Amino acid sequence: MREDPFVYAHEKEKEIVWMSQNTNQLETTPKINENIIEAVEENKYNLYPHKQGILGLKEVLLKDLGLTEGFDALITNGAIEATYGLTRAMLESGDNVIASDPSFMPIHHQVELCSAEMREIDVYEPPYKMTVEEIKEQVDENTEMILLIDPLNPLGSTYDREEVKAICDIVEDEDLWIIDDITYRDFAFDHTLTTEFVPERTFLVYSFSKNCGFAGMRLGGLIMPNELSDRLHKYRTNVLSANVLAQVGAKTALETKDQWLDDMVEQARKNQRLIKECVEEIDDVFLPIYPSNTNMFAIDIGGTGISPENLQEKLLYEHDVFVRSGTYVSKSSGEDFIRVSFTVPEEGVRRFIDILPDVIEELRS
Ligand SMILES: Cc1ncc(COP(=O)(O)O)c(C=O)c1O
Repeated sequence: MREDPFVYAHEKEKEIVWMSQNTNQLETTPKINENIIEAVEENKYNLYPHKQGILGLKEVLLKDLGLTEGFDALITNGAIEATYGLTRAMLESGDNVIASDPSFMPIHHQVELCSAEMREIDVYEPPYKMTVEEIKEQVDENTEMILLIDPLNPLGSTYDREEVKAICDIVEDEDLWIIDDITYRDFAFDHTLTTEFVPERTFLVYSFSKNCGFAGMRLGGLIMPNELSDRLHKYRTNVLSANVLAQVGAKTALETKDQWLDDMVEQARKNQRLIKECVEEIDDVFLPIYPSNTNMFAIDIGGTGISPENLQEKLLYEHDVFVRSGTYVSKSSGEDFIRVSFTVPEEGVRRFIDILPDVIEELRS
Protein backbone atom coordinates (compact mmCIF):
# COMPACT_ATOMS: atom_id res chain seq x y z
CA MET A 1 0.00 0.00 0.00
CA ARG A 2 1.11 3.53 -0.77
CA GLU A 3 2.18 5.75 2.12
CA ASP A 4 -0.12 8.55 3.29
CA PRO A 5 -0.12 11.06 0.39
CA PHE A 6 0.19 13.92 2.83
CA VAL A 7 3.34 12.47 4.40
CA TYR A 8 4.80 12.07 0.90
CA ALA A 9 3.77 15.60 -0.07
CA HIS A 10 5.08 17.22 3.11
CA GLU A 11 8.39 15.41 2.79
CA LYS A 12 8.73 16.96 -0.66
CA GLU A 13 6.96 20.17 0.32
CA LYS A 14 8.86 22.56 -1.94
CA GLU A 15 8.68 20.35 -5.04
CA ILE A 16 4.97 19.69 -4.82
CA VAL A 17 2.33 21.68 -6.68
CA TRP A 18 -0.24 22.01 -3.90
CA MET A 19 -3.62 21.88 -5.64
CA SER A 20 -5.20 19.56 -3.08
CA GLN A 21 -6.49 21.65 -0.17
CA ASN A 22 -7.57 24.99 -1.63
CA THR A 23 -4.67 26.66 0.09
CA ASN A 24 -3.41 29.92 -1.37
CA GLN A 25 0.21 30.60 -2.29
CA LEU A 26 -0.44 33.66 -4.43
CA GLU A 27 1.03 37.02 -3.54
CA THR A 28 -0.82 39.22 -1.07
CA THR A 29 1.25 41.96 0.58
CA PRO A 30 4.73 42.00 2.17
CA LYS A 31 3.24 44.09 5.01
CA ILE A 32 1.82 40.89 6.51
CA ASN A 33 5.26 39.36 6.98
CA GLU A 34 6.73 42.68 8.11
CA ASN A 35 4.18 43.04 10.88
CA ILE A 36 4.44 39.39 11.93
CA ILE A 37 8.24 39.65 12.09
CA GLU A 38 7.96 42.84 14.12
CA ALA A 39 5.61 41.04 16.53
CA VAL A 40 8.12 38.17 16.83
CA GLU A 41 10.93 40.63 17.54
CA GLU A 42 8.82 42.22 20.25
CA ASN A 43 8.25 38.75 21.75
CA LYS A 44 4.52 39.39 21.54
CA TYR A 45 4.02 35.64 21.87
CA ASN A 46 5.09 35.74 25.53
CA LEU A 47 1.57 36.83 26.49
CA TYR A 48 -1.85 35.36 25.84
CA PRO A 49 -3.77 37.56 23.46
CA HIS A 50 -7.00 39.07 24.79
CA LYS A 51 -9.63 36.32 24.86
CA GLN A 52 -11.71 38.20 22.28
CA GLY A 53 -8.71 38.42 19.96
CA ILE A 54 -6.02 41.08 19.67
CA LEU A 55 -7.40 44.55 20.01
CA GLY A 56 -8.94 45.80 16.82
CA LEU A 57 -9.09 42.49 14.92
CA LYS A 58 -12.74 41.82 15.64
CA GLU A 59 -13.63 45.33 14.53
CA VAL A 60 -11.80 45.09 11.18
CA LEU A 61 -13.37 41.70 10.55
CA LEU A 62 -16.90 43.02 11.17
CA LYS A 63 -16.16 46.11 9.10
CA ASP A 64 -14.89 43.94 6.24
CA LEU A 65 -18.30 42.25 6.19
CA GLY A 66 -20.21 45.50 6.56
CA LEU A 67 -21.63 44.37 9.91
CA THR A 68 -20.70 47.12 12.31
CA GLU A 69 -23.97 47.15 14.29
CA GLY A 70 -25.51 44.31 16.29
CA PHE A 71 -22.95 41.57 15.63
CA ASP A 72 -20.19 39.98 17.64
CA ALA A 73 -17.21 38.01 16.32
CA LEU A 74 -15.39 35.19 18.00
CA ILE A 75 -11.81 34.71 16.81
CA THR A 76 -11.12 30.99 16.49
CA ASN A 77 -8.39 28.55 15.55
CA GLY A 78 -9.58 28.28 11.97
CA ALA A 79 -13.14 28.18 10.68
CA ILE A 80 -13.15 24.54 11.68
CA GLU A 81 -13.08 25.48 15.38
CA ALA A 82 -15.90 27.96 14.77
CA THR A 83 -18.15 25.25 13.34
CA TYR A 84 -17.21 22.85 16.13
CA GLY A 85 -18.29 25.27 18.87
CA LEU A 86 -21.34 26.30 16.91
CA THR A 87 -22.62 22.78 16.34
CA ARG A 88 -21.98 21.90 20.00
CA ALA A 89 -23.84 24.98 21.21
CA MET A 90 -26.85 24.74 18.93
CA LEU A 91 -27.54 21.06 18.22
CA GLU A 92 -28.79 18.17 20.26
CA SER A 93 -29.61 14.55 19.70
CA GLY A 94 -32.49 14.07 17.25
CA ASP A 95 -32.02 17.40 15.44
CA ASN A 96 -31.25 17.43 11.76
CA VAL A 97 -29.24 19.77 9.54
CA ILE A 98 -29.74 20.24 5.81
CA ALA A 99 -26.70 20.59 3.56
CA SER A 100 -25.39 19.66 0.15
CA ASP A 101 -23.28 16.76 -1.03
CA PRO A 102 -20.58 17.48 -2.32
CA SER A 103 -19.62 19.63 0.65
CA PHE A 104 -16.87 20.32 3.14
CA MET A 105 -17.50 17.06 5.00
CA PRO A 106 -15.71 17.80 8.32
CA ILE A 107 -18.66 20.03 9.29
CA HIS A 108 -21.06 17.15 8.60
CA HIS A 109 -18.94 15.04 10.90
CA GLN A 110 -19.18 17.69 13.63
CA VAL A 111 -22.97 17.65 13.30
CA GLU A 112 -22.95 13.88 13.72
CA LEU A 113 -20.78 14.19 16.82
CA CYS A 114 -23.74 16.03 18.36
CA SER A 115 -25.90 12.95 17.58
CA ALA A 116 -27.76 15.08 15.08
CA GLU A 117 -28.58 13.87 11.58
CA MET A 118 -27.15 15.27 8.34
CA ARG A 119 -29.64 15.50 5.51
CA GLU A 120 -27.52 15.72 2.40
CA ILE A 121 -28.97 16.92 -0.86
CA ASP A 122 -27.14 15.54 -3.88
CA VAL A 123 -26.16 18.61 -5.88
CA TYR A 124 -23.83 16.97 -8.39
CA GLU A 125 -26.05 17.82 -11.33
CA PRO A 126 -27.17 21.19 -12.72
CA PRO A 127 -27.54 23.74 -11.13
CA TYR A 128 -24.87 22.18 -8.84
CA LYS A 129 -26.33 23.75 -5.70
CA MET A 130 -29.30 23.22 -3.40
CA THR A 131 -32.61 24.45 -4.74
CA VAL A 132 -35.39 25.89 -2.60
CA GLU A 133 -37.65 22.96 -3.52
CA GLU A 134 -35.06 20.40 -2.46
CA ILE A 135 -34.51 22.15 0.86
CA LYS A 136 -38.24 22.36 1.51
CA GLU A 137 -38.59 18.63 0.86
CA GLN A 138 -36.02 17.90 3.57
CA VAL A 139 -37.38 20.16 6.30
CA ASP A 140 -39.35 18.53 9.09
CA GLU A 141 -40.14 19.31 12.73
CA ASN A 142 -36.63 18.21 13.80
CA THR A 143 -34.78 20.44 11.36
CA GLU A 144 -32.63 22.89 13.26
CA MET A 145 -30.29 24.37 10.71
CA ILE A 146 -29.30 24.78 7.11
CA LEU A 147 -25.61 24.65 6.30
CA LEU A 148 -25.05 26.93 3.34
CA ILE A 149 -21.49 26.81 2.05
CA ASP A 150 -21.44 29.73 -0.32
CA PRO A 151 -19.47 29.67 -2.57
CA LEU A 152 -19.39 25.90 -2.45
CA ASN A 153 -16.34 23.76 -1.81
CA PRO A 154 -15.68 21.85 -4.10
CA LEU A 155 -17.76 22.95 -7.10
CA GLY A 156 -17.38 26.72 -7.07
CA SER A 157 -21.10 27.34 -7.44
CA THR A 158 -22.69 30.25 -5.58
CA TYR A 159 -26.21 31.37 -4.73
CA ASP A 160 -27.47 34.59 -6.29
CA ARG A 161 -29.28 37.20 -4.21
CA GLU A 162 -32.76 35.86 -5.04
CA GLU A 163 -31.72 32.32 -4.10
CA VAL A 164 -30.18 33.47 -0.83
CA LYS A 165 -33.37 35.36 -0.05
CA ALA A 166 -35.56 32.34 -0.85
CA ILE A 167 -33.44 30.09 1.40
CA CYS A 168 -33.61 32.69 4.16
CA ASP A 169 -37.41 32.74 3.77
CA ILE A 170 -37.43 29.03 4.60
CA VAL A 171 -35.21 29.71 7.62
CA GLU A 172 -37.68 32.35 8.80
CA ASP A 173 -40.85 30.39 8.05
CA GLU A 174 -39.61 27.18 9.64
CA ASP A 175 -37.91 28.86 12.60
CA LEU A 176 -34.41 27.58 11.74
CA TRP A 177 -30.81 28.78 12.05
CA ILE A 178 -28.53 29.17 9.07
CA ILE A 179 -24.79 28.62 8.95
CA ASP A 180 -23.47 30.79 6.15
CA ASP A 181 -19.97 29.45 5.56
CA ILE A 182 -18.26 32.24 3.64
CA THR A 183 -14.76 30.76 3.56
CA TYR A 184 -14.48 31.48 -0.20
CA ARG A 185 -16.51 34.70 -0.40
CA ASP A 186 -13.60 36.86 -1.52
CA PHE A 187 -13.12 34.76 -4.66
CA ALA A 188 -16.73 35.18 -5.79
CA PHE A 189 -17.82 37.40 -8.66
CA ASP A 190 -20.77 38.43 -6.55
CA HIS A 191 -21.90 37.36 -3.10
CA THR A 192 -24.83 37.92 -0.77
CA LEU A 193 -24.64 37.35 2.97
CA THR A 194 -27.63 35.75 4.68
CA THR A 195 -27.37 38.49 7.32
CA GLU A 196 -29.01 40.71 4.74
CA PHE A 197 -32.29 38.80 5.21
CA VAL A 198 -32.13 36.88 8.51
CA PRO A 199 -29.52 38.66 10.66
CA GLU A 200 -30.94 37.27 13.90
CA ARG A 201 -30.77 33.66 12.64
CA THR A 202 -27.38 33.70 10.94
CA PHE A 203 -23.98 32.37 11.94
CA LEU A 204 -21.26 33.46 9.55
CA VAL A 205 -18.29 31.14 9.44
CA TYR A 206 -15.14 32.96 8.42
CA SER A 207 -11.70 31.66 7.48
CA PHE A 208 -8.43 33.48 6.92
CA SER A 209 -6.99 30.35 5.28
CA LYS A 210 -7.99 30.89 1.69
CA ASN A 211 -8.43 34.60 0.95
CA CYS A 212 -5.35 35.63 2.97
CA GLY A 213 -3.27 32.49 2.38
CA PHE A 214 -3.17 31.72 6.11
CA ALA A 215 -4.01 28.00 6.14
CA GLY A 216 -0.99 27.15 8.27
CA MET A 217 -1.73 30.00 10.68
CA ARG A 218 -5.01 28.38 11.73
CA LEU A 219 -7.23 31.41 12.17
CA GLY A 220 -10.91 31.96 11.58
CA GLY A 221 -13.98 33.46 13.13
CA LEU A 222 -17.62 33.07 13.97
CA ILE A 223 -19.85 36.08 13.50
CA MET A 224 -23.25 36.10 15.13
CA PRO A 225 -25.92 38.46 16.43
CA ASN A 226 -25.01 39.98 19.81
CA GLU A 227 -27.89 38.15 21.53
CA LEU A 228 -26.32 34.77 20.72
CA SER A 229 -22.80 35.67 21.64
CA ASP A 230 -22.92 34.51 25.31
CA ARG A 231 -24.30 31.11 24.34
CA LEU A 232 -21.53 30.62 21.79
CA HIS A 233 -18.73 31.92 23.98
CA LYS A 234 -19.56 29.17 26.49
CA TYR A 235 -18.77 26.50 23.93
CA ARG A 236 -15.49 27.81 22.63
CA THR A 237 -12.83 25.19 22.92
CA ASN A 238 -10.04 27.64 23.65
CA VAL A 239 -10.76 30.50 26.02
CA LEU A 240 -7.12 31.59 25.77
CA SER A 241 -7.62 32.86 22.20
CA ALA A 242 -5.75 31.91 19.04
CA ASN A 243 -2.15 32.31 17.89
CA VAL A 244 -1.17 35.94 18.36
CA LEU A 245 1.15 36.08 15.34
CA ALA A 246 -1.64 34.79 13.13
CA GLN A 247 -3.89 37.51 14.50
CA VAL A 248 -1.32 40.25 13.84
CA GLY A 249 -1.01 38.99 10.26
CA ALA A 250 -4.78 38.70 9.81
CA LYS A 251 -5.41 42.22 11.04
CA THR A 252 -2.80 43.54 8.61
CA ALA A 253 -4.28 41.47 5.79
CA LEU A 254 -7.78 42.87 6.30
CA GLU A 255 -6.57 46.44 6.79
CA THR A 256 -4.65 46.30 3.48
CA LYS A 257 -7.10 44.15 1.52
CA ASP A 258 -7.84 46.83 -1.05
CA GLN A 259 -4.13 46.86 -1.96
CA TRP A 260 -3.81 43.16 -2.84
CA LEU A 261 -7.09 41.28 -3.14
CA ASP A 262 -7.98 42.24 -6.72
CA ASP A 263 -4.59 41.23 -8.14
CA MET A 264 -4.60 37.99 -6.21
CA VAL A 265 -8.11 37.08 -7.43
CA GLU A 266 -7.19 38.07 -10.98
CA GLN A 267 -4.25 35.64 -10.96
CA ALA A 268 -6.54 32.92 -9.58
CA ARG A 269 -8.99 33.58 -12.42
CA LYS A 270 -6.21 33.44 -14.99
CA ASN A 271 -5.11 30.10 -13.52
CA GLN A 272 -8.60 28.64 -13.75
CA ARG A 273 -8.83 29.83 -17.37
CA LEU A 274 -5.62 28.00 -18.23
CA ILE A 275 -6.95 24.78 -16.73
CA LYS A 276 -10.26 25.18 -18.55
CA GLU A 277 -8.48 25.51 -21.91
CA CYS A 278 -6.63 22.30 -21.18
CA VAL A 279 -9.71 20.38 -20.00
CA GLU A 280 -11.65 21.38 -23.12
CA GLU A 281 -9.18 19.45 -25.25
CA ILE A 282 -9.61 16.16 -23.35
CA ASP A 283 -12.36 13.75 -24.41
CA ASP A 284 -15.00 12.80 -21.80
CA VAL A 285 -13.74 15.35 -19.27
CA PHE A 286 -15.54 18.57 -18.33
CA LEU A 287 -15.93 21.30 -15.73
CA PRO A 288 -19.37 21.21 -14.07
CA ILE A 289 -18.97 24.84 -13.00
CA TYR A 290 -16.98 27.45 -14.90
CA PRO A 291 -16.03 30.06 -13.92
CA SER A 292 -15.71 28.98 -10.34
CA ASN A 293 -16.53 31.44 -7.57
CA THR A 294 -13.93 29.87 -5.33
CA ASN A 295 -10.24 29.08 -5.71
CA MET A 296 -11.00 25.52 -6.88
CA PHE A 297 -13.31 23.56 -9.10
CA ALA A 298 -14.27 19.99 -9.87
CA ILE A 299 -12.99 18.33 -13.04
CA ASP A 300 -15.46 15.64 -14.03
CA ILE A 301 -13.73 12.46 -15.22
CA GLY A 302 -16.78 10.17 -14.87
CA GLY A 303 -16.93 9.55 -18.63
CA THR A 304 -13.35 8.27 -18.78
CA GLY A 305 -13.86 5.29 -16.47
CA ILE A 306 -10.79 6.39 -14.50
CA SER A 307 -10.97 6.27 -10.73
CA PRO A 308 -10.23 9.67 -9.13
CA GLU A 309 -8.01 7.95 -6.55
CA ASN A 310 -5.86 6.49 -9.32
CA LEU A 311 -5.61 9.86 -11.01
CA GLN A 312 -4.69 11.54 -7.70
CA GLU A 313 -2.00 8.92 -7.07
CA LYS A 314 -0.47 9.08 -10.51
CA LEU A 315 -0.33 12.87 -10.51
CA LEU A 316 1.22 12.94 -7.07
CA TYR A 317 3.68 10.07 -7.05
CA GLU A 318 4.82 10.38 -10.66
CA HIS A 319 4.57 14.14 -11.20
CA ASP A 320 4.52 15.79 -7.76
CA VAL A 321 1.20 17.46 -8.52
CA PHE A 322 -1.22 17.06 -5.63
CA VAL A 323 -4.95 17.20 -6.45
CA ARG A 324 -7.76 15.59 -4.48
CA SER A 325 -10.10 12.75 -5.35
CA GLY A 326 -13.77 13.73 -5.26
CA THR A 327 -14.36 10.98 -2.71
CA TYR A 328 -12.98 13.32 -0.04
CA VAL A 329 -15.79 15.82 -0.57
CA SER A 330 -18.69 13.70 -1.74
CA LYS A 331 -20.31 10.48 -0.60
CA SER A 332 -22.66 10.23 -3.56
CA SER A 333 -20.65 11.40 -6.57
CA GLY A 334 -17.03 11.48 -5.49
CA GLU A 335 -16.08 8.78 -7.98
CA ASP A 336 -16.90 11.19 -10.81
CA PHE A 337 -14.42 13.97 -10.26
CA ILE A 338 -11.18 15.34 -8.91
CA ARG A 339 -11.01 18.65 -7.07
CA VAL A 340 -8.30 21.02 -8.19
CA SER A 341 -7.42 24.30 -6.54
CA PHE A 342 -5.60 26.94 -8.52
CA THR A 343 -4.29 29.51 -6.06
CA VAL A 344 -0.79 28.26 -6.74
CA PRO A 345 1.91 30.09 -8.69
CA GLU A 346 1.19 30.01 -12.43
CA GLU A 347 4.16 27.73 -13.16
CA GLY A 348 2.50 25.08 -10.99
CA VAL A 349 -0.70 25.36 -13.00
CA ARG A 350 1.32 25.06 -16.19
CA ARG A 351 3.01 21.91 -14.89
CA PHE A 352 -0.42 20.44 -14.16
CA ILE A 353 -1.88 21.23 -17.58
CA ASP A 354 1.24 20.01 -19.36
CA ILE A 355 0.84 16.53 -17.93
CA LEU A 356 -2.93 16.12 -17.41
CA PRO A 357 -3.90 15.04 -20.97
CA ASP A 358 -1.17 12.36 -21.13
CA VAL A 359 -1.84 11.09 -17.62
CA ILE A 360 -5.51 10.65 -18.46
CA GLU A 361 -4.65 8.86 -21.71
CA GLU A 362 -2.28 6.51 -19.86
CA LEU A 363 -4.91 5.64 -17.26
CA ARG A 364 -7.60 5.17 -19.86
CA SER A 365 -5.72 2.43 -21.63
C1 LIG B 1 -16.18 25.41 3.38
C2 LIG B 1 -15.07 25.35 4.36
N1 LIG B 1 -15.29 25.71 5.63
C3 LIG B 1 -14.32 25.68 6.56
C4 LIG B 1 -13.04 25.26 6.23
C5 LIG B 1 -11.98 25.23 7.29
O1 LIG B 1 -11.20 26.39 7.22
P1 LIG B 1 -10.06 26.71 8.27
O2 LIG B 1 -8.77 26.42 7.59
O3 LIG B 1 -10.21 28.18 8.56
O4 LIG B 1 -10.27 25.87 9.48
C6 LIG B 1 -12.76 24.86 4.92
C7 LIG B 1 -11.43 24.39 4.56
O5 LIG B 1 -11.14 23.94 3.48
C8 LIG B 1 -13.79 24.91 3.97
O6 LIG B 1 -13.61 24.54 2.70
